[in-house]
Amino acid sequence: MALIIACANQKGGVGKTTTTANLGATLSRMGKHILAVDMDPQANLTAHFGMERELESSVAGALRDRKAELPIYRIEDDSGATIDIVPASLELASVEFQLAAVIGRELRLREHLERVRDNYDFVFIDTPPSLGLLTVNALVAADCVLIPTEARFFSLQGLYMLQETISEAAALNPKIEILGVMLSKYDRRLREEKAVWQYLHEHWGDRVFTTEIGTNSKILEAASAGVPVNAYTGARKAVNAYQLLAREVLDRVETARL
Ligand SMILES: Nc1ncnc2c1ncn2[C@@H]1O[C@H](COP(=O)(O)OP(=O)(O)OP(=O)(O)O)[C@@H](O)[C@H]1O
Ligand SMILES: [Mg+2]
Repeated sequence: MALIIACANQKGGVGKTTTTANLGATLSRMGKHILAVDMDPQANLTAHFGMERELESSVAGALRDRKAELPIYRIEDDSGATIDIVPASLELASVEFQLAAVIGRELRLREHLERVRDNYDFVFIDTPPSLGLLTVNALVAADCVLIPTEARFFSLQGLYMLQETISEAAALNPKIEILGVMLSKYDRRLREEKAVWQYLHEHWGDRVFTTEIGTNSKILEAASAGVPVNAYTGARKAVNAYQLLAREVLDRVETARL
């Protein structure tokens, strides 16, 4: 049965989608069965896997209608590794309002994932930069949360807000845990970033991932090309970094017996 990991941080542009896509793709090349769910109306994860084409259905329909099937599309890369994607679309933006008066609206994603989680080793959920219903659905469905962050002082305050929301989600999902905080766009040459690194390690201790993903233009280029870094030429350094991250995730999951 899959471990469900929500990738969350209400701050925008901190690397949630990039982490979900590249970690998912890396673990899939390691032979793991992966489902990646796009819960962001911006649909960046969907685009990250080159799925901008007109899709018949998105996660929005499944959230609106409990009986609808979760739409799952399979992507295969050059190496033959596959990853399953539940795409998003702009339609998702209206789901929050449509479900506003519905009992159990926070449980919709969990109900859908319960039906498919036996088919996977890991389910990753990419979330939008807000703490609204879509993120809450992800936190209620997840076993644990991976928090990508930039090494900026403005980001630190956001981490505490996210912790609060995770505690609130625990009312519906008491077993939820923080898998770790991960520096996803780290530039060690900048003094502010080094200071934040220090602060994070002092205050969050071993919840901070040892692996950091450095700023790397190939990561951005691969995203724009609609492929994960391991399918993009010249991104060896980034590929290695995500492999280290994937191994650390596997170790943490094992150590914490999640
Ligand atoms: N390590 C990195 N090096 C360089 N660019 C990066 C790196 N990680 C992410 N980026 C780029 O930073 C931008 C923001 O990343 P991403 O979209 O993953 O953040 P996000 O948290 O999902 O954003 P949003 O909150 O809008 O959903 C993207 O253009 C992405 O390609
Ligand atoms: Mg995103």
